[in-house]
Amino acid sequence: MDHFAYLDGVMHAENFPLPQIAEAVGTPVYVYSRATLERHARVFREALDAVPDKLIAFAVKSNPNLAVLKVLGRQGMGADVVSVGEMRRALAAGIAPDMIVFSGVGKTAAEMVAALDAGIGQFNIESEEEGIELAAIAAERGLTAQCTLRINPDVDAGTHDKISTGKADNKFGVPISEAGQIFGALASLPGVNLRGVAVHIGSQLADLAPLETAFGKLGALVTALRGAGHTITHVDLGGGLGVPYRVGEVLPAPAEYGAMVARVTKDWGVKLIFEPGRVIAGNAGVLLTRVVRVKRGIKDPFVIVDAAMNDLARPALYGAYHHFEAVTPTGARMTANIVGPICETGDTFAMGRECDGLEAGALAVFRTAGAYGATMASSYNSRGFVAEVLVDGDKFAVVADRIEAGAIMDAERVPEWLA
Ligand code: LLP
Repeated sequence: MDHFAYLDGVMHAENFPLPQIAEAVGTPVYVYSRATLERHARVFREALDAVPDKLIAFAVKSNPNLAVLKVLGRQGMGADVVSVGEMRRALAAGIAPDMIVFSGVGKTAAEMVAALDAGIGQFNIESEEEGIELAAIAAERGLTAQCTLRINPDVDAGTHDKISTGKADNKFGVPISEAGQIFGALASLPGVNLRGVAVHIGSQLADLAPLETAFGKLGALVTALRGAGHTITHVDLGGGLGVPYRVGEVLPAPAEYGAMVARVTKDWGVKLIFEPGRVIAGNAGVLLTRVVRVKRGIKDPFVIVDAAMNDLARPALYGAYHHFEAVTPTGARMTANIVGPICETGDTFAMGRECDGLEAGALAVFRTAGAYGATMASSYNSRGFVAEVLVDGDKFAVVADRIEAGAIMDAERVPEWLA
């Protein structure tokens, strides 16, 4: 459930009419709802009530906006980060260092140093090579890095190939067949306290079965590691729970996920870490856009909006569906190709989509844009970086300025020898 709904025929975010945001900030603009973020955080937390010892670390990559992180931090969430940039955002939003988990296959030495100095709670080590390097860096500084070893369980998450992470040929984690041996090698190193294992098999999962399979494999590994004399106190179960993008689409609810987790992990006797991103932020945001013009097509008309693939990359990258609707629907319907202004055919949000009838100047939204939206923006075609707004009841604030194309150009230099 979210807080984007029509009041008197006008789409509002909570109690605030979207046309007033377009008027004040311009378009395209991402609009987030604080009440929705808080609701999703609460629902996810309550779904895991049966898990006694846990940390819910929001996957910052899904929406790193500082105000969003502030809202979620106040809900008691920690942060799952994959770069020092994300770590600094989580810290700046007031998230305690010990509630920060650092994942990612390419942590540099400089990032390890920065994360150790910040005193983050956990490193999820993704390879034997990384573990050896982290141990050396920590030991040299007289520190002990708290770590889990990320396991690649070789489970097909059944999601889009580009966001599957748990198959044997994906770059993530160590093969489960070698996990015991690698764990043993790393656990003996000074500088690391290897206290558990981690897994994340992919994103936008529409089925709990692959997760349950992966968690089952992890449970067996925990037993085997304990059998080999290791102390296992932490298991990180990653993120991945999908959200509905289409009207009427039904996905596993957080409560079903929580019940499955509680059942599978009940005898593990560990602290569980969760890294939800999309399920918290996805439906807490929309991308508000204005129709530039409607162009006749051979079959369907092209509705050309002022948002483009540089603002919302998911349709171009993954063929992703984002529900599209008018801010002030007239009742008219049309079948249209919804496209942005960028000069490649990939800048297409939908072909042959049945949607509200729209004319030049009308406002519309792409729904479910709160996760992997603004954060994946670029300045392609010398377009600026899209602005972001947070609504709270009957007020709103700009939480990320639009970075105009001119400001990006100002950061470029023509060398003297070309002048
Ligand atoms: N933990 C790890 C280690 C991850 O790699 C990810 C996502 C998450 C947690 C959060 O997953 P979530 O709960 O949001 O599914 N740009 C893509 C999604 C990429 C996800 C990458 N990893 C998209 O727009 O669909």
